[in-house]
Amino acid sequence: MKKNKSDNQIPDSELQNYHTPVLLKECIEGLHIKPDSTYVDCTFGGGGHSLAILEKLNKNGRLIAFDQDEDAKKNLPQDERVIFIPQNFRHLQRFLRLYKITKVDGILADLGVSSHQFDKADRGFSIRFDAALDMRMDQRQIQTAADVLKNLSGAQLHKMFEQYGEVTNSKTLANTIVSQRSISPLRTINEFKKAIHDVVKGNPQKYFAQVFQALRIEVNDELGALKTFLEQAPGVLQSGGRIAIITFHSLEDRVVKNFFRDGTFENTATDEVFGHRFENPFKVITKKPITATQEEINKNSRSRSAKLRVAELK
Ligand SMILES: C[S@@+](CC[C@H](N)C(=O)[O-])C[C@H]1O[C@@H](n2cnc3c(N)ncnc32)[C@H](O)[C@@H]1O
Repeated sequence: MKKNKSDNQIPDSELQNYHTPVLLKECIEGLHIKPDSTYVDCTFGGGGHSLAILEKLNKNGRLIAFDQDEDAKKNLPQDERVIFIPQNFRHLQRFLRLYKITKVDGILADLGVSSHQFDKADRGFSIRFDAALDMRMDQRQIQTAADVLKNLSGAQLHKMFEQYGEVTNSKTLANTIVSQRSISPLRTINEFKKAIHDVVKGNPQKYFAQVFQALRIEVNDELGALKTFLEQAPGVLQSGGRIAIITFHSLEDRVVKNFFRDGTFENTATDEVFGHRFENPFKVITKKPITATQEEINKNSRSRSAKLRVAELK
């Protein structure tokens, strides 16, 4: 029987399809798991990657699992080696310290939304449904997608759709939103789709997907969280420890690639002026990103755009 939403429970039928992990074997190989060590899964979700890590750990191993979505907690295995932290991974170091963990042997992040979030109509992530424009991965957060559409200026909306969605007519789209929202509020997916109907360019499915991706990245500050988290990684990894990150769009992949290559987001040329060169703490393991095999793509179309990059702390 389907449980009432207010029970804050996910029906068993949904749990089975919560999420299919992508590039699973490749991640586990890339992490070089040592059986008695401590690993962090920053994006627990349906727990597929976490379970595979746990299988490689012995009784002394530990897994710290982060997920900012409370729903993910329902997928936790009964396993005393696991600590679940229902927080944004941008606070990685702070929460590890809270558990008196100073160094870990490996970190995994499988970025973006889970199939569960995408398939649950009332989360507001998918153009397939009509629901409130929500899109918060962390439902304790105040700002929703409707708030973004209501509060951002035309220039901010333009930049957001251009940068995060690569929407070709992002300025026209932003101007349309600004004029339409003064006529009637954009609170639901259908209200929004109707309001921008006249400016849709090309394939509507593709266009809406780009627009929704941009909104989702903004609502959850996905790039801000990724950068803040990456900057903490060298400080929490043991020497020889590995970090593996799966991205799903080029913006994220570029951030990860450049950070693994440079070890910083700062302009290191300035340091050279003062005579000390910044040394990248990482050794890049994957010169090119690892992508899904055709066999995996056939089974799970979501893996098509996945890119895995791995680095090791020197
Ligand atoms: C692609 S799914 C991960 C799926 C997981 N690897 C599995 O095997 O089921 C991404 C998950 O990470 C969570 N997430 C995304 N960004 C996050 C962040 N900044 N902090 C914490 N959790 C985040 C989402 O809520 C979602 O559950």
